[in-house]
Amino acid sequence: MHFTAPLKSNSIKIMLLGSGELGKEVAIEAQRLGIEVIAVDRYPNAPAHQVAHEAHVIDMQNREAVLDLIRRVRPDYILPEIEAISIDALFDAEKEGFHVIPNAEAVNKTMNRKNIRKFAAEELGLKTSAYRFVSSFDALEAAADSIGYPCVVKPVMSSSGHGQSVARSREDLQKCWEIAKEARGDASELIVEEFVEFDYEITLLTARTEKETIFCEPIGHEQKGGDYIFSWQPAFMAPGAREKAEEIAKKITDGLGGRGIFGVELFVKGEEVYFSEVSPRPHDTGMVTLITQSQSEFALHLRAVLGLPLEFAFHTPGASAAYKAKRHSVTPVIHAEDAVFAADSFIRVFGKPESHEGRRMAVVLTMAASESEALKKAKERIGYVDDYANVTKMVESEREESEDESCVIKKVFKFIFGK
Ligand SMILES: Nc1ncnc2c1ncn2[C@@H]1O[C@H](COP(=O)(O)OP(=O)(O)OP(=O)(O)O)[C@@H](O)[C@H]1O
Ligand SMILES: [Mg+2]
Repeated sequence: MHFTAPLKSNSIKIMLLGSGELGKEVAIEAQRLGIEVIAVDRYPNAPAHQVAHEAHVIDMQNREAVLDLIRRVRPDYILPEIEAISIDALFDAEKEGFHVIPNAEAVNKTMNRKNIRKFAAEELGLKTSAYRFVSSFDALEAAADSIGYPCVVKPVMSSSGHGQSVARSREDLQKCWEIAKEARGDASELIVEEFVEFDYEITLLTARTEKETIFCEPIGHEQKGGDYIFSWQPAFMAPGAREKAEEIAKKITDGLGGRGIFGVELFVKGEEVYFSEVSPRPHDTGMVTLITQSQSEFALHLRAVLGLPLEFAFHTPGASAAYKAKRHSVTPVIHAEDAVFAADSFIRVFGKPESHEGRRMAVVLTMAASESEALKKAKERIGYVDDYANVTKMVESEREESEDESCVIKKVFKFIFGK
């Protein structure tokens, strides 16, 4: 492959639609190869904006706004990083000859649970939980009764667990209905799923180009409130289950087509493997690959986008722990104690310009001889991170440097409140 310099008439350009922490890592990988990065999001100073050559703030649900920017920038590759993007703009861009990753139809299918579930279960014949789609409360009752309890109720368009709930009996359905309706996204239609009592769940990162498909070691994860909090790699799978998982991942990614990495989410129960859903982009649980692999999921994504070979080495078992803010702040402070900066662990701080309760602000990564050891360390080290600035400690260390108490207080205030 020929590489170019950025900001030239012949630069190779990628446009990130969505500039969160996952996009930021993709941008950094692109920078490493001299690729020009144009980062787009709906708010200023998003994580990937900060490491891009060009940053744009637009309403990404607005077809004209997205299309207009694509036509002006003329990127070689368009990389959707989130689900909330005008899909019509992506279809139009593709018609005009732009290269959408992995392709507009794959983005369309995966952004809607109805599309992807029908495609996986009905067209590809993959094993999934039993499911029904409903758009009225009466239909929800009928669907839940026929699927049985407990069952899971989700808006067809939502992510990170928004609007999702479990009905343990018929009495819970009214509450589930309200939760789904209040969630953001298009909650006009809901999916009711059989609750799979899985032994464990995994993400199987699968990267593909026209020439090859590769799998990363399975990633195990723990979810809380529909969002991941810990992940580890490799997740042990019985050989039969692993084979089935790779078979499912190959089928779904071949079915969606195009270039890029996919996060294939699977439930494992004994020898049975259920397809749950798939992201046509790096996966949050895959942040663990920042420490475990020679090429992280972000580097592999970029390689696939560029059509490069997907060779990589698995270096070490590892784990990740997501740090979620405990409070709202427009001058967020992430306090990480020295214990995080060990030979076997480090932290990535995303640089999000504001924190609010539950917002993911950083990730702690650990490595060890085994994944269970790495996970134990991740659980321990995340305890050394806090977004309540540790004022006592800070005052102590400032006092060591200065005798002037008002100067100490001023410094601490400036750090915490930005003024
Ligand atoms: N049918 C089910 N049976 C059992 N558990 C489920 C089922 N559906 C979802 N879950 C649990 O809820 C989690 C989130 O569900 P799902 O992946 O469908 O939602 P999401 O909003 O797309 O989440 P994310 O965006 O974080 O991937 C799953 O990882 C799993 O732990
Ligand atoms: Mg999911």
